Amino acid sequence: QESKPVEETSKKKQLDSFTVDNNGQKMTTNQGLKVSDDENSLKAGKRGPSLLEDFYLREKIMHFDHERIPERVVHARGYGVHGYFQVYESMVEFTKAKFLQDPTVKTPVFVRFSTVAGSRGSGDTVRDVRGFATKFYTEEGNYDLVGNNIPVFFIQDAIKFPDLVHSFKPEPNNEIPQAQTAHDTFWDFVANNPESAHMVMWAMSDRAIPRSYRMMEGFGVHTFRFVNKEGKSRFVKFHWKPKLGVRSLVWDEAQKIAGKDPDFHRRDLYEAIEMGQAVEFELGVQMIEEEEEFRFDFDILDPTKLWPEEVIPVKIIGKMTLNRNPDNYFAETEQVAFHPGNVVPGIDFSNDPLLQGRLFSYTDTQLIRLGGPNFHEIPINRPVCPFHNNQNDGYHRMTINKSPISYHKNSLQNNAPEGATAEEGGYVHYQEKVEGRKVRARSDSFSDYFSQAKMFWNSMTDVEKEHIIAAFQFEVGKVKSKSVQQQVVNLISHVDLELAQKLAISIGAKMPEKVNVSTVTMSSPALSQESKIKSAK
Ligand code: HEM
Repeated sequence: QESKPVEETSKKKQLDSFTVDNNGQKMTTNQGLKVSDDENSLKAGKRGPSLLEDFYLREKIMHFDHERIPERVVHARGYGVHGYFQVYESMVEFTKAKFLQDPTVKTPVFVRFSTVAGSRGSGDTVRDVRGFATKFYTEEGNYDLVGNNIPVFFIQDAIKFPDLVHSFKPEPNNEIPQAQTAHDTFWDFVANNPESAHMVMWAMSDRAIPRSYRMMEGFGVHTFRFVNKEGKSRFVKFHWKPKLGVRSLVWDEAQKIAGKDPDFHRRDLYEAIEMGQAVEFELGVQMIEEEEEFRFDFDILDPTKLWPEEVIPVKIIGKMTLNRNPDNYFAETEQVAFHPGNVVPGIDFSNDPLLQGRLFSYTDTQLIRLGGPNFHEIPINRPVCPFHNNQNDGYHRMTINKSPISYHKNSLQNNAPEGATAEEGGYVHYQEKVEGRKVRARSDSFSDYFSQAKMFWNSMTDVEKEHIIAAFQFEVGKVKSKSVQQQVVNLISHVDLELAQKLAISIGAKMPEKVNVSTVTMSSPALSQESKIKSAK
């Protein structure tokens, strides 16, 4: 089947076909039976017990009893909005992804912004990383860019994700605190897992208390691949740049707002869109040629490293406009299922061991969160292009597959879903040559934990540095364990001695010793240009 270009309104039209308006309608049961009385249960006598035969009472209460689904295991609190994406000029040289070819095509998108650590009802303005997940409903299927507002991550390997999350979620004995960064277990994790040093610097910076979802950058974090029609591959990192610029709260504001209006970010976005204000982000890409993979003194597969923008510039390639609030929070924002493995031809993965684990995790968690294997049929998750295969049955199946043939290969069905070739738009994985021994290990090229953390610190203005110092003093000051506090001071001394000393003084820890500079110098021709991180400004 030929793919057809999508229209900006195609997702809205699809969602509209599922909407129901109760306004002015006579009430019925879910079976369509008209209800005569919605205020009284059926009883044996006016003052007597309720009767088991009251199917309406049972239906109503049963539905209510089951209205909640599990919240996301991380990123539970969020807010989603609709919009569209348009590429500025064809990216044909770099990728065959169709939604990146034609500047006249408006690809519908749904974006969910989130905090990471708090539960679904937690406050918006806490110090935390923010999720920035985008679903592009393209003519070739859904493409999800599931990113954060910080360009690096705490850990290098997916096997450590449960440990990281256990350390920052509320403590298991008493479920406090909600804030990601304010307890012993988180800082104990950081001190004992020094690969987190770079991300911790970002988390203590103003980036972790954004002014608005409209004023945050977004990052794909991992290295992905672009693949063009000729099969040539390049490494790519994705960036979202807000047209309103990057703005943050100051900590005092963030705390006060959290008390007065815990829905601050959600309200800000909802109201901006209701008032017709443009909420716009430009999409940028950094690209590295395959042959350049080993040119840098960081490993491009290491998700705790960014690509300095002075060395590898961000090419702005298109713009996303967010312009419509959902009709129903649960149906759309709560049920949306993002997955970094939702890709289209022309976009592929790298061997980043964090990304590789994510490719398993999202569908796995959604299987339970959304109640079975058919969550792709939930309206918000449906592609706007047709989908056909031999999968059927399972909890909550909505599609009625007409054919008795649900296996491949067969001789009984002429139009059995044969695979398409790459030329016909079939997804073909990039044929990277891979060789190696099966080992449970990590590459030595992942072992520099501090150069970029130091680079980040050095790129800050004096005011930004003051904010970071105050954040460390506040957050680590809340840690009860003196030993953990000392370990954090020692770790931070590898990033900046003065920062560590200021932290030590404020929390009464021992002053850190001068550290061995060889652990923090940069050696690559690329990085030795005293790169400042433009994005950090
Ligand atoms: C949500 C796992 C790293 C961004 C989630 C969810 C899981 C998960 C299980 C809940 C999904 C759902 O219930 O629908 C993991 C694992 C990671 C990892 C195992 C590392 C091994 C990352 C990284 C980023 C990220 C590095 C950013 C680049 C997000 C976002 C969401 C999310 C934005 C929320 C999606 C939404 O709005 O529904 N993650 N994650 N995660 N993750 Fe990750």
